[in-house]
Amino acid sequence: MKIIMLGAPGAGKGTQAIMLADKYGIPHISTGDIFRSNIKAGTELGKKAKEYMDQGLLVPDELTTDLVVNRIEEEDCKNGFILDGFPRTIPQAKCLQEALKEKNDHMDFAVNVDVKAENIIKRMSGRRACPNCGATYHIESSKPKVEGICDRCGHELILRDDDKPETVKRRLEVYDDMTRPLIDFYTEEGILVSVDGSRDINVVFEDITKILEGKA
Ligand code: AP5
Ligand code: MG
Ligand code: ZN
Repeated sequence: MKIIMLGAPGAGKGTQAIMLADKYGIPHISTGDIFRSNIKAGTELGKKAKEYMDQGLLVPDELTTDLVVNRIEEEDCKNGFILDGFPRTIPQAKCLQEALKEKNDHMDFAVNVDVKAENIIKRMSGRRACPNCGATYHIESSKPKVEGICDRCGHELILRDDDKPETVKRRLEVYDDMTRPLIDFYTEEGILVSVDGSRDINVVFEDITKILEGKA
C-alpha cells in the first residue's frame, strides 16, 4: 500500500502515519523528520533546511524531491510506504508521479486529515515530539506513559523549534497557498479520501483503516 498523508500542519498526519506504519509494517517517511535529523547531525542539507523551517517556510523543491524519490527506491519500500509531509507543492506531486510512472507504479491513496485552523494552534502548543523515531504526543490529549519519554523508543521528548505561535501562523498560511491545492490535484487523480481529523486519535485511525481496507 502506498499512501500520502495530506493535511495542515498539526492536523495529525504524523500521529496517524506512525500508527498506520506499525499496523501495516511499511515505512513511515516524513520529510520533516528527515530534515530535523539532518539539522541535529549538522549536515549541509540540515543547515540549508533550517533556514526555511525556522521561518515556517517550505524547504525548496530541489532539496526535497530527490530525497524522497531516492528513499522510496530502497528495499524496505517494496511492499509500500507512507509519505508524511510530502508532496507539499504541485511540482513535488508531479515529480513523484513521474518517478513512479517510470516503474509503471502509482500511489494508492492520498488521505486528507481535515482539521480547522483554530484547533490546530492548540494542538501545536501542547505537542511534544520524539527526535529519534518521530512519534508525537500531546501534554493533554496524547500523553506518553512516562512524562517526557517516548513510549515507542524510550528517547527523551522535545518541543519543536517551529511550534512557536507566530511560526505556526506562517506555516498555516504557507499550507493554504502551496499545499492545499494538492487536495484538488489528488481528487482529479481519483485517489483522495478525506477524514475528519478533529475527533479522537483512535477514532480517526479506525476511519482511515476502514477506508484503506475498503470497508468505508
Ligand atoms: P513537518 O514536520 O511535516 O510539519 P507539518 O506539516 O507542519 O506538520 P506537523 O508535523 O507539525 O503536524 P502533523 O500533521 O504531523 O501533526 P502531529 O501528528 O504531530 O514539516 C516541518 C517543516 O519542514 C515545514 O514547515 C517545512 O519547512 C519543511 N518541510 C517538510 N516537508 C517538506 C516538503 N515536502 N517540502 C518543503 N518543505 C518541507 O499532531 C500534532 C499534535 O496534535 C500532537 O501533539 C498530537 O499528539 C496531537 N494530535 C494529533 N491528532 C490528534 C487528535 N485526533 N486529537 C487531539 N490531538 C491530536
Ligand atoms: Mg508531522
Ligand atoms: Zn521515539
